[in-house]
Amino acid sequence: MKKSAITRIQGVYRVQDVSGIVDEILHLKEKKNAIILAHNYQKSEVQECADVVGDSLELARAAATMDGDVIVFCGVDFMAETAAVLSPDKTVLLPAPDACCPMAEMITADQLKLVRSRHPGAAVVCYVNTTAEVKAESDICCTSSNAVAVVNSLDADTVIFVPDRNLGAYAARFTKKTVLPWEGFCLVHDRYTPAQVADARRLHPDAVVLVHPECRPAVIDCADHVASTSGILKLVRTLPEKEFIIGTEVGILHRLKKESPQKTCYPLSPAAVCVNMKKTDLVKVRDALVSMQPRITVPDEIANRARKAIERMLAL
Ligand code: 13P
Ligand code: SF4
Repeated sequence: MKKSAITRIQGVYRVQDVSGIVDEILHLKEKKNAIILAHNYQKSEVQECADVVGDSLELARAAATMDGDVIVFCGVDFMAETAAVLSPDKTVLLPAPDACCPMAEMITADQLKLVRSRHPGAAVVCYVNTTAEVKAESDICCTSSNAVAVVNSLDADTVIFVPDRNLGAYAARFTKKTVLPWEGFCLVHDRYTPAQVADARRLHPDAVVLVHPECRPAVIDCADHVASTSGILKLVRTLPEKEFIIGTEVGILHRLKKESPQKTCYPLSPAAVCVNMKKTDLVKVRDALVSMQPRITVPDEIANRARKAIERMLAL
């Protein structure tokens, strides 16, 4: 079947036949014994050629457990780093080497060490959206789908939560522990406002509002449900309602349409685009498999400590 993608060439959007390049990728994938992992925010055509499309937790689990010699990570740098930490024997490729997560850059290992030294006895929970160096300084990692369970699993009464202040505040709602959040945020989710939710509800009065926990507390207060990207996909699949307002990055709409064609999903904002998640395209995936570059590696000393924090989360 002919496969197509919408691409922007010299400022003009056009529909492009991508069947040829998809066939090349499938052939290379087999030849190199590679698996392709793609985040739910990736471009539709990239999601379509992946072995696993998922949220951060599902992709970390896939990286840790799936067979193959090579992981092609269609996402952002911290995700590929996590895969490299969990699968040190595999070659991990990040087709778009400049695909970073600005939130993950908002705290350094030295800053975390300093905060930790001010709260002896506190546990450190790091969101998976952090560098391997920051994970190496943390007690346990978490993702948007398990932050509450991770915080509640700890013995300490005080938890330093980095770097997402919004996810930290969300977890704090469901625990008796004192949560000390770092002042980081996601450039995409932190921009939603309660006024946008109110406008969307006026336009679609029967729709259920689903938002990601990276949203501000005031937006979370206006939502019907709060969930990770794969949690949102599940809610749309399983709830009886027919219309949904989706408060997360627009890349998720591809899977929503594919998996729940009988439901109608409206983006809370069509401008909710993570530019870094969109840096990966089929040409870069193909080129990465040809050249086996750009490769992501993490020095052993850091990887060994970061692995403890990630594996502790995966064991929960
Ligand atoms: P999840 O897919 O784990 O919900 O994470 C969203 C995100 O922003 C990843 O960078
Ligand atoms: Fe980072 Fe936000 Fe983009 Fe996720 S959506 S990669 S948290 S900037």
